[in-house]
Amino acid sequence: MAGSADYNFVPGVATPHVVATEGSELVLANGRRILDGGGGAIVTNIGHGRPEIAEVAARSTSSVDYVIPPWNTPPRQALVDRLVGSWLPTGLDRVALVSGGSESVEAAIRLAHAYQVCSGEPDRYKVIGRWPSYHGVGIGGLSAGGHRGRRAGFERLLLDFPHVAWDDPDALEAMIEAQGPENVAAFIAEPIIGAAAGCLVPPADYFPRVEAICRRYGVLLIIDEVMTGFGRTGRNFAIEHWGVTPDILVGGKGLSGGYAPMGGIYTKTTVTQALADKGQAFMFFTYGAHSSACAISDRVLEILQDEDLVARCARMGGVLQSRLHERFANHPHVSEVRGMGLMLGLELVAERDPHRQFPVEAHLAQTVVREALERDVWVYPAGSGDPVHDAVMLGPPFTITEAEIDRLVDVLAASIDAAVASIGL
Ligand SMILES: Cc1ncc(COP(=O)(O)O)c(C=O)c1O
Repeated sequence: MAGSADYNFVPGVATPHVVATEGSELVLANGRRILDGGGGAIVTNIGHGRPEIAEVAARSTSSVDYVIPPWNTPPRQALVDRLVGSWLPTGLDRVALVSGGSESVEAAIRLAHAYQVCSGEPDRYKVIGRWPSYHGVGIGGLSAGGHRGRRAGFERLLLDFPHVAWDDPDALEAMIEAQGPENVAAFIAEPIIGAAAGCLVPPADYFPRVEAICRRYGVLLIIDEVMTGFGRTGRNFAIEHWGVTPDILVGGKGLSGGYAPMGGIYTKTTVTQALADKGQAFMFFTYGAHSSACAISDRVLEILQDEDLVARCARMGGVLQSRLHERFANHPHVSEVRGMGLMLGLELVAERDPHRQFPVEAHLAQTVVREALERDVWVYPAGSGDPVHDAVMLGPPFTITEAEIDRLVDVLAASIDAAVASIGL
């Protein structure tokens, strides 16, 4: 099956070899079927192996292949129409499409600064981020992000962007004052913190207060929905749970459900008008808005709508959450089950009361993931050092069945026990 060249970029890391993807499962070269409880990297939403998508990919590629991003094509127009007409929060009607989450974050940071410069505020370049958080691996996103593990070793490359605690609006206001509002372009936040913390959900008044603070200081509010967007939390976008509209919304993963590399930023006409008034262009990425990727994404969104899958995500998320609560409410090494829709996390600890984490070097979350894979289930590791060392995330396709949920929860329980036993206390 495998050729002679080493597929893995870093030597010594063996990874599964997937030869087919079907429904909620990945089929390996050796015939094993892996239940995709993490939806890859919390991506797959309409399920794997949809023939309708393969058909759209073939058809769209045979009519148009590459066209430079600023020019239009029928799939590009159809996708922008569907996004603005049916998906994006009211008021966000300008769309720039890219090829993934990190590109989206970089574009959002660049847009925020360009907006400030064009509005006569050339010193506003800092983007305030949070501990913990994750905004991808571009230098802007890594700098604004608060994932200690993924920043480690790159400190010399990072921009001087400040960070505040993830749940404290007063700390944000104090930081804007301390930096000088005239130096702050934007604040960036995930509605529910994913990879860095395993689905931390903020207090109910957090985002409304943050929105008011950003408005007061002329700081743009960037909401990073790369993981939460396009239905994952049971609403089109997670920020809608708090009735807040950002200045720039950032998306990725769910837009194409894993069928094409896609991402995008979505903003208000007032933001792009500021650039237009100054004759300031907004440079594209060569593969941005790829026409076939747009056709595929448009069909993915259509399937989500036709099959009412966002509502199904909310419903199956409720089922999964209650099974997790039943199984882990009294588990000695699970301190919390949390999240929304089908973006759920379990925080893993050495001891619940008093709260004591395993040392970061023990790599408990990674060990749980390995144990689960040995039992033919994929779950997604999370945690980034303080304040959350170890968590696992579940983000299966919205089409997951109750029987698959049972299998997922059973394997997760066995894997946590095996991982803790292997590490010792
Ligand atoms: C919130 C958030 N932002 C940005 C990214 C980066 O996206 P990508 O890996 O597609 O570049 C991720 C990826 O997990 C993410 O969860």
